[in-house]
Amino acid sequence: MSHAPQPLGAPVVRREGRDKVTGAARYSAERDLPGCLYAWPVPATVPRGRVTAIRTAAAMALPGVRAVLTHENAPRTEEPDDPILAVLQDDHVPHRGWQIALVVADTLEDARAGAEALHITYETAPHDVLLTEDHPGLYTPQTVNGGYPAVRERGDFDRAFTAAPVRIDATYTLGALHNHPMEPHASTAHWSPDGHLTVYDSGQGATKVRDSLATVFKLRPDQVTVVSEHVGGGFGCKGTPRPQAVLAAMAALHTGQPVELAMPRRHMAAVVGHRAPTVQRVRLGAEADGTLTSLAHEIISHTSTVKEFVEQAAVPARVMYGSAHSRTGHRVAALDVPSPSWMRAPGEASGMYALESALDELASALGIDPVELRLRNDPAGEPDSGKPFSSRGLAGCLREGADRFGWHGRDPRPAIRREGALLLGTGVASATYPVYIAASHASAHAAADGSYRIAVNATDIGTGARTVLAQIAASVLATPVENVTVDIGNSELPDAPLAGGSSGTASWGWSVHKAAAGLVRQLGERTGPLPDGGVTVTADTGSETAAESPYARHAFGAHFAEVAVDSRTGEVRVRRMLGVFAAGRILNSRTARSQFIGGMTMGLGMALTESSTMDPVFGDYTESDLASYHVPACADAVGIEAHWIDEEDPHLNPMGSKGIGEIGIVGAAAAIGNAVRHATGARLRTLPLTPDRLL
Ligand code: MOS
Repeated sequence: MSHAPQPLGAPVVRREGRDKVTGAARYSAERDLPGCLYAWPVPATVPRGRVTAIRTAAAMALPGVRAVLTHENAPRTEEPDDPILAVLQDDHVPHRGWQIALVVADTLEDARAGAEALHITYETAPHDVLLTEDHPGLYTPQTVNGGYPAVRERGDFDRAFTAAPVRIDATYTLGALHNHPMEPHASTAHWSPDGHLTVYDSGQGATKVRDSLATVFKLRPDQVTVVSEHVGGGFGCKGTPRPQAVLAAMAALHTGQPVELAMPRRHMAAVVGHRAPTVQRVRLGAEADGTLTSLAHEIISHTSTVKEFVEQAAVPARVMYGSAHSRTGHRVAALDVPSPSWMRAPGEASGMYALESALDELASALGIDPVELRLRNDPAGEPDSGKPFSSRGLAGCLREGADRFGWHGRDPRPAIRREGALLLGTGVASATYPVYIAASHASAHAAADGSYRIAVNATDIGTGARTVLAQIAASVLATPVENVTVDIGNSELPDAPLAGGSSGTASWGWSVHKAAAGLVRQLGERTGPLPDGGVTVTADTGSETAAESPYARHAFGAHFAEVAVDSRTGEVRVRRMLGVFAAGRILNSRTARSQFIGGMTMGLGMALTESSTMDPVFGDYTESDLASYHVPACADAVGIEAHWIDEEDPHLNPMGSKGIGEIGIVGAAAAIGNAVRHATGARLRTLPLTPDRLL
């Protein structure tokens, strides 16, 4: 090999990049298995009730239609650990869009025609889909997403807040949001004659999908193979096994042929999760010098009647700023809505919009610069737990961001910068995301020809996982990165956790690091040439990751945004966004920058264009395609810059990395909202900031 070793952090080009842009990469709905049939799911068209009859004769008479699966004839499955996977098992319709049938045919068009030919009758029941602040169904759950306690109290918030000389009491309202990855959820399933199930699946973690399918179909895990070679984005909505994998496997079992099921975009909103809407009350009490004395962040949210998922939006308030007295709490109501789930930085993205907007309101009330206000309340230890931080780069990010952005000398008065009819303003907000890590397995193999092969069932959801894992291995093996092959995306490989919670690289990377280090040791003890089959070392980080860290471990960041608001049309354009992040050691500067910018762009969408509106009468979201659910286009996402502060943190993992997938979105919408407030003087406490709201 002629290449020099590239150090960790080098901008190594994505290994599968060329395959992806040339179409050579095969996604889960592109496997072209011989004899493959196509399936079209059938969503319930009532918001609540039960199916009284599904008449299939007309559909079955259509050319090409092979089967119609309903709750009456679908294979019976075992109870899944996630109730959203219990599909076609009974006549119950918990929400509009719940899948009640599946048509299987020779072509996708035949399957779709078959679905349209079904005659379905329902018995409807009254539905309740609207989250309100006084909803009688609101209750306090035990825990919220992530396993955090729903409520935390420190000191005496009420007394301290009443006594505070400067107070903010503001309520922020966020509607639901949908992840909408480019690749829809898709599974192609195939049973071999010996009863082995193979599923090509679009999920973020093939080990978990394998285990869920094994449970549902009452198989041993070694009787199921799940392949997720390429995944076209997920952002959390593919983080848990999704019903299309079960449906495709059921249909393949029923017909005896391979079956491909790619979710129609317009069906996705109901069955792939969403960021739950939140109503968030934030109260901040401060001394005149800006010292926070009391902080309360209380949220309400919805879940479905199928399962309890509670958006943990008040959790970041336990981490961010010092305050002797605090209360953070969540309540939730189970409505007749689709089940909410993970969407990029669940909890943090919503919660930090509210908290960082409130900080800006407090800065205005105090007459203190909003960067300075945050610096004055930067705590020495994690406020809620009292633990020391393993590293905390917030102040560094705020300072470096302010320098790079040109924040100094900003006139804080609103609505004074103009360019003709445009009002200009700037805003800042902080970002944070916790360090998660999970146990992983990996193997490292040295071949007789001097090359290496790493195997780990990691998933590349577009982030560059193969590339960074090759870098981690190469750094340990002291070999050029080109000399390392990385196999991921197949449940036959060593078990590994999902690509989620910004934990993939740290979790998989630790096991890769450990396997590679073990291999180096073994090779060092050897003399003479390697055997023909080479040498393989396997590793498991179960023991390393089991114990809770004595440190509070979080990534931090700071966003700066400049907006121009058209005073005639109410249109907001983001002229530039600048983020600085402190996320431990950055392992690949090219793919990391791409992740940060991607997160910031998603935050721009959250601020300006994205929203899912619940129609209370119809009982479903009105935006169900990319023509109505507006994600930012390239023309919207201009001037986005991401920088970072390299942190040396010995309390993380052998690479010293935190996680970068989600922090880019956290706080981004608040920075834009704060800039709009600076530009116009108008404080809108709801998103997105569309022209109708601004005028
Ligand atoms: Mo992320 S929302 O954990 O895929």
